[in-house]
Amino acid sequence: MNKVTIIGSINLDTNLRVERMVKPGETIHAKEHYSAAGGKGANQAVAAARSGCLTSFIGAVGNDAPGSEMLNLLKQEKIDISGITTVNNESTGQAFISVDDQGQNSITIYAGANYDVNVKDIEQKSELIASSDFVIAQFETPVDATIRGFEIAHANGVRTILNPAPAMAKIPVELLKLTDMIAPNETEAETITGVHVTDEASARQAAAKLHELGVKAVIITIGSKGAFYDFNGQSELVPAFKVKAVDTTAAGDTFIGAMASLLKPDFSNLPEAIVFANKASSLTVQRYGAQPSIPYKKEILQVQ
Ligand code: RIB
Ligand code: NA
Repeated sequence: MNKVTIIGSINLDTNLRVERMVKPGETIHAKEHYSAAGGKGANQAVAAARSGCLTSFIGAVGNDAPGSEMLNLLKQEKIDISGITTVNNESTGQAFISVDDQGQNSITIYAGANYDVNVKDIEQKSELIASSDFVIAQFETPVDATIRGFEIAHANGVRTILNPAPAMAKIPVELLKLTDMIAPNETEAETITGVHVTDEASARQAAAKLHELGVKAVIITIGSKGAFYDFNGQSELVPAFKVKAVDTTAAGDTFIGAMASLLKPDFSNLPEAIVFANKASSLTVQRYGAQPSIPYKKEILQVQ
């Protein structure tokens, strides 16, 4: 059983179902309104835990009702929450998500307490990192804390996985040097490399640029087309499972968490782990909400 530590965000998501996205200056009616637990970090932790990982989390919530609710939910998933700090001066992170009839989303986040995750927290929780197989981070928490976390990981022989989301153009070189695997989606890959990724050939070009930045293993998820990997001289687009998407929220997060549950620390079974991750995210897109839509291992194994 893999052990993973996630350094990342915790959000309360407010979701609106709309026929189509609102335009600037326009007012539209939503068809439905609901809230759900979210945050890229927390979603990835829940995906890892539901896929069978021993999972711990380093993050922060505000001293408010959403914060204690989010902590309870993570605890129910058997996630080790001892690395989560409750801060007094900020509210728990929030996300405002519109989902249209095509299942596409647009998300605005208010980081709140997520921006309070700092180098000191990471150092205090270094034992969680040192005892893991993988450390996983995104860009919804401060990058200096992630760099420190990845340093501690490498000092202890722990592999690092970076999901560079939301997209950031100039990723610190220091962080990339400490990253063993980078896993952007097609938009994030374009932001980093300038290559417009739409298919296997363009993904291979973007992957080459990511290798040039010093990262050995590259995975680029390309929505309903699947996931492209380039590692150790081997590369391939592993097709996605064909399903009808109603809400793609947390699909990428599910992919990362599920993949980490099966992946060997030397990445030698990467193609197999990607097939499992594709199965997992094919379930997530068929359900509404972030964490409520993330599948359990039993369901993932039934996907054909
Ligand atoms: O990746 C999906 C997540 O992005 C949502 O749960 C939302 O909280 C934002 O962080
Ligand atoms: Na979903």
